[in-house]
Amino acid sequence: MKLTTRVLPDKGHVINLYPLYITVLGLGAFTVLRILHQLFCVLLQTFLLPGTSLTNFGSHEGAWAVVTGCTDGIGKEFARQLGKAGFNLLLVARDVERLSSTAQEIELMYGIKTHIHTINFGKASVNEYTELTETLERHDIGVLVNNVGTSWRFSRFTETPREKISDMIQINVNATVQVTHAVLPGMVKRKRGLVLNVGSFSGAFPIPMLAAYSSTKAFLANFTSALAEEVRSDNVMVEYLNAYYVVTKLSGIRRPSVFIPTTKIYVQSVLSKIGLPCGSAYSGRLNASSPYWPHALLDLMLTFFCKVYPSAAMVMISGTTQPGLELGGVMGGKAELDCWCLTPEIKTHNEMQ
Ligand SMILES: NC(=O)c1ccc[n+]([C@@H]2O[C@H](COP(=O)([O-])OP(=O)(O)OC[C@H]3O[C@@H](n4cnc5c(N)ncnc54)[C@H](OP(=O)(O)O)[C@@H]3O)[C@@H](O)[C@H]2O)c1
Repeated sequence: MKLTTRVLPDKGHVINLYPLYITVLGLGAFTVLRILHQLFCVLLQTFLLPGTSLTNFGSHEGAWAVVTGCTDGIGKEFARQLGKAGFNLLLVARDVERLSSTAQEIELMYGIKTHIHTINFGKASVNEYTELTETLERHDIGVLVNNVGTSWRFSRFTETPREKISDMIQINVNATVQVTHAVLPGMVKRKRGLVLNVGSFSGAFPIPMLAAYSSTKAFLANFTSALAEEVRSDNVMVEYLNAYYVVTKLSGIRRPSVFIPTTKIYVQSVLSKIGLPCGSAYSGRLNASSPYWPHALLDLMLTFFCKVYPSAAMVMISGTTQPGLELGGVMGGKAELDCWCLTPEIKTHNEMQ
């Protein structure tokens, strides 16, 4: 008997299985081709295609770049590299001495103009936001980097101090919303602008032990997707940066590795891939980008993986553990986190908080 036919035992007649085999083969081939096509597009964007040039946003033409939280870490590096690219800099953070020394350092290095504005986003009043808005409105802003952010150690939500939760909402969410609201009308009027919202992998999936932090970043991802579509026709780009770990004070990681770059390497990859989603291309998060290549591959892998095992994706991103913490989900029963050891990096992160 041929492989494509089968005799039904009770009825004794032959059925043709050929259409079934063809359908299964067709679906299998379609799935494989789809995955290969997505992989090809991500590799092309991440390794070959150049991003939108910063000259489109007014570099070397007197335009200003605003960076929030720019006295350390990723923000300071954005300030350096945007100064190097020929933007004047409006630097915003809470410590006037650190702001002045950052401004001086970059002015001397690249011969650009700087202006500093001091504000503590954790406690900023309506009046302080009005003052900041007035400062922002006086400048021709080409680029805004909503970088300021804070986190708290890996801990249960109920064990996270209330003031830390409030800080995360005020600094990670409210500061971005308020500063963007102040800057965007000018960009829309000038028909030119770039807004980069510094997000996190932890915003892509609900992360236990980082419930508040990961939710603030999920807000930013959604906010960016919606806003980007609103202003696209005004020639203003809004992009969410899906960042995995980077060596900074906030991450508590001091030694770089392939997956954990220095701020210099991370920011270089961001500024060279503006407008390209790279690893976020098929994540379902519109206008998000994972431009640093190991982060891009990780994002792509999680995109495929978490559709099947969302619980496991949560665990992979946080790499966290808490004896007794259990996750339900499509894995069927429960995925226990006990088996995951705290990595040295995460131990350091917790120790620093
Ligand atoms: N590092 C990572 O692994 C990682 C991963 C994913 C996403 N991110 C995101 O990247 C962004 C930057 O993080 P980072 O690692 O560069 O952090 P960082 O090294 O701690 O630097 C944070 C900057 O923000 C300023 N800042 C903090 N609280 C502030 C406040 N209340 N008001 C005004 N300024 C304030 C800090 O100023 P002071 O010097 O005065 O504290 C500093 O300049 C954050 O949005 C973070 O969520 C980081």
